[in-house]
Amino acid sequence: MASREEIQKGADALRRARRAVALTGAGISVESGVPDFRSPGGLWEVYDPGTYATLFCFLREPERAWEFYRALGRTLVGKTFNPAHAALAELEQAGRLAGVITQNVDGFHQAAGSRNVVEMHGNHHQLQCLSCGWVGPLGPEVLEPGPAPRCGDCGHPLKPNVVLFQEDVRGMDRAEDLLEGCDLLLVAGTSAQVAPAAWLPRRVIAAGGSVLEVNLGPTDLTAEGLGPGGLLLAGQAGETLPALAAQVNGRAQEQV
Ligand code: APR
Repeated sequence: MASREEIQKGADALRRARRAVALTGAGISVESGVPDFRSPGGLWEVYDPGTYATLFCFLREPERAWEFYRALGRTLVGKTFNPAHAALAELEQAGRLAGVITQNVDGFHQAAGSRNVVEMHGNHHQLQCLSCGWVGPLGPEVLEPGPAPRCGDCGHPLKPNVVLFQEDVRGMDRAEDLLEGCDLLLVAGTSAQVAPAAWLPRRVIAAGGSVLEVNLGPTDLTAEGLGPGGLLLAGQAGETLPALAAQVNGRAQEQV
């Protein structure tokens, strides 16, 4: 867990920021019981992303692609947001955060009360048809083993409404609007390795801004430098972010 002084520094950076935005990744949902992708025990240990998580795989072998989608979907069943998501919602409501850009497909930020959320990689609680454009809810029945579900309108195989490798990310225009004038990016629970999300902190730094990083430990981004006054708050997001929000909102004695 980051020290009291480090939390204080992070809170000062957030208070001073003209415009702060959060970028989140799978690590922020680990304390909800959802494994991330690249840590030991992560989904990519079992499912090679280049084999299972590509558009090519879905188009050619939807049954095989569904092995991975079902494994991912099962990790979300019965799970919900944790104190890290709640802290970001609190910071937004307090006017300290303009919004959240997330790579996550679990919907936990909205469940926690964040309003301005850009889901760059889509949402796993929905299905989509690439042929006719139908989008609808993903029910528990499609997570049972069996053939790929098919579109009730056109018969084409359905996929979860998430972004596969070889597909364009979603909401880039809204992300750009959020980042306009952003001088502090709060980067939480991401290895910051997958473009284009990984470019965002680098862009903020290149424009003279800083990154406040919340992660279990240093990442490539940390090693590259986090900009003037930027720092890594090492530890679990579910502890660090509530402590940070408490400090920013003047409730430091309660939680830090
Ligand atoms: N608190 C803070 N950070 C954590 C925690 C935690 N409790 N648990 C794990 N982490 C950190 C890990 O140390 C790692 O740096 O979160 C990061 C998770 O990294 P990845 O597994 O690479 O997840 P992410 O960055 O979201 O991946 C980006 O890759 O394959 C794609 O589409 C997938 O959206 C995903 C994208």
